Amino acid sequence: SKKIYTLAIESSCDDTSAAVLCNDKVLSNIVARQSVHEEYGGVVPELASRAHQQNIVPVVDVALKKAGITKDDLHCIAFTQGPGLMGSLLVGGSFAKSLSQGLQIPLIAVNHMKAHILAHFIQEEGFEKPKFPFLAMTISGGHTQIVKVTSFFNMEIIGETTDDAVGEAFDKSAKILGLPYPGGPLIDKYAQEGNPKTYSFTKPKVDGLNFSFSGLKTQILYFIQKNTALNPNFVEENKADICASIQYTIIEILMDKIKIAVKETGINQVAIGGGVSANSGIRTTLKEAEKKYGWKTFIPKFEYTTDNAAMIGIVGYYNFLENNFSDTSVVSKARIEF
Ligand code: KG4
Ligand code: ZN
Repeated sequence: SKKIYTLAIESSCDDTSAAVLCNDKVLSNIVARQSVHEEYGGVVPELASRAHQQNIVPVVDVALKKAGITKDDLHCIAFTQGPGLMGSLLVGGSFAKSLSQGLQIPLIAVNHMKAHILAHFIQEEGFEKPKFPFLAMTISGGHTQIVKVTSFFNMEIIGETTDDAVGEAFDKSAKILGLPYPGGPLIDKYAQEGNPKTYSFTKPKVDGLNFSFSGLKTQILYFIQKNTALNPNFVEENKADICASIQYTIIEILMDKIKIAVKETGINQVAIGGGVSANSGIRTTLKEAEKKYGWKTFIPKFEYTTDNAAMIGIVGYYNFLENNFSDTSVVSKARIEF
């Protein structure tokens, strides 16, 4: 069978990434992280697009070199059309467009959130691919959605956050605890040494399959303020237990909704995707749900959880097989329909 080489570019937020796939296998997946944002406690859009401009050419070069091919071997170029930061998206989008024109090969615009879901179709030793239909929970710094996936090209959002994303809940809680940005991975790290039942936070009451995280953030802020007034070293002395309790509450909120989704749809295959799916507590809880509820769960390989171009490439490959190409008039979109 024919070998299809796809070059993929991801530049929706603060990471510049390029990947090369041969059919559904990843030959290289290079991510240049931008550390310039750390001192600002969040991503600064203007600095992000400037860093993408500096990184994109070397990152693509390294991806091709590591894959052992040249750009003349490529069959198509996939790129993130949105959602994301406009300035960041434009850098990847313009690069992909000009390269596809120069090489005279098809261009494929990819929805970043769909890519987080379809990352499960990357061929990887020891990882099984979901079968359609399945439920996907996309949990990242910008999104929290439950999606019913009926084919590569057919997906329906059946629940989403009404305010903050779950990654923001992690990052904002971390900020309250004085941890650097992005704090999600640090909460995860400290939580592993703590007791999740030490402090209890109330879960929001939200109808149906939707989520809300802004109330939890406020609750944590007041809780920390109150306790720090009594003991200035409260956070330092109880960091592990605080982190474990916060993480436990967030996981409970997610699990409550996914349980309702399984019940309502009758679909018991559950996949997760997005940066927060790197969280060790969520990974363990989902694995336990296999035994507890008889679900089949799909947890992405660690390198495909946070933003990466390999997930853009797998969507590109499946679109290439269907001749779903984008016109050169295609535009980047900060917000994008599913
Ligand atoms: O998907 P992603 O890389 O970028 C977006 O599209 O938003 O997700 C980034 C988010 C951040 O909020 C980060 O704190 C969170 O994922 N994150 C984690 C962990 N690793 C990354 N949150 C909790 N536990 C982790 N281990
Ligand atoms: Zn993402």
